[in-house]
Amino acid sequence: MPQARVFVTRRLPTELQRLQEIANVEVWMGREPPPYEVLLAKVREIDGLLCLLTDKIDRQLIEIGTSLKVISQMAVGYDNIDVPAATARQIPVGHTPGVLTDATADLTWALLMAAARRVVEGDRFTRAGEWRTWEPDLLLGPNVTSATLGIVGFGRIGQAIARRAKGFNMRILYTSRHRCDPELEQSLGVEFVKFESLLQESDFVTIHTPLSDDTYHLFGEPQFALMKPSAILINTARGAIVDSDALYQALSSGEIAGAAIDVTEPEPIPIDSPLLTLDNLIITPHIGSASRQTREKMANMAIDNLIAGLKGERLPYCVNPEVYDVVSG
Ligand code: NAP
Ligand code: GLV
Repeated sequence: MPQARVFVTRRLPTELQRLQEIANVEVWMGREPPPYEVLLAKVREIDGLLCLLTDKIDRQLIEIGTSLKVISQMAVGYDNIDVPAATARQIPVGHTPGVLTDATADLTWALLMAAARRVVEGDRFTRAGEWRTWEPDLLLGPNVTSATLGIVGFGRIGQAIARRAKGFNMRILYTSRHRCDPELEQSLGVEFVKFESLLQESDFVTIHTPLSDDTYHLFGEPQFALMKPSAILINTARGAIVDSDALYQALSSGEIAGAAIDVTEPEPIPIDSPLLTLDNLIITPHIGSASRQTREKMANMAIDNLIAGLKGERLPYCVNPEVYDVVSG
């Protein structure tokens, strides 16, 4: 029986041996993602695709991949993949939930602390030789301890943020598609509120929803207008959840005090983006899950999903399990 053929769209931070034992594996060695045309050519001749969030896996690609049996993404978010198109072709799509929750919550917390306490500005100030003496009003920011935190999207990462906030004695508000059960609310010390109330009452607002038609530009002019002038926005979810032009206006006009974002629209952020001129904005290059241990676990989970798909077994972490519901005959 011919071996399965697999295309992996970047070098992974783990060994590929167990995948190579069952498949012919080609790895894209570029630092940047394979161009779309390369993906189009590869997908015609493979059984399994292991991709990243930087790869656009759209309907055209999925329909051309007539031998494709599984798509496995090394990320929890999968907004770059046309999942309905994959489902229509009975192709399971895998992702990597859970293993990156704490790493992403840690980075979110680092951004929140850095924005509040002006860590990046302080570093720039020091390197510029501007540190002359201790000054009573130098680089002042708001308290984090005992402030009000608003969490938008209360899934795995949103809840991990609540656990961190509890240690800072914060008042924790959340909004999500569904209210979680009262026992969990009580143990995390969180209050479910409407989106608008969360925006009005929070000192820090942090975004943890997936990117979808419902969350695209969830934050725009009207939302910034509701926020406190002292508020700080954190986004480690997806760039397109926030309207970048509206964010620039809100930050440059003082409608909100600051922001810290790990994700932008588009990625990478163009070097001439007006956002990069702002001192009250911190930007990191989409490194939410970037701890060594986490990335290795993500890669292994993506390989597990891929191998299961190639063997015709159920993916351990499948975003479209309905592909298994169809009764044959
Ligand atoms: P998750 O467990 O699925 O949590 C997402 C939460 O958002 C769920 O509670 C979901 O509600 C809620 N939600 C969905 N649509 C909503 C809407 N329109 N309004 C309000 N809430 C909504 O996902 P996760 O593991 O926490 O990850 C969240 C996202 O973070 C990922 O999708 C990814 O885009 C991003 N992420 C980024 C990084 C990074 O490197 N920066 C790393 C990891 C993840 P339901 O339960 O009702 O669906
Ligand atoms: C990273 O952004 C992920 O979705 O895993």
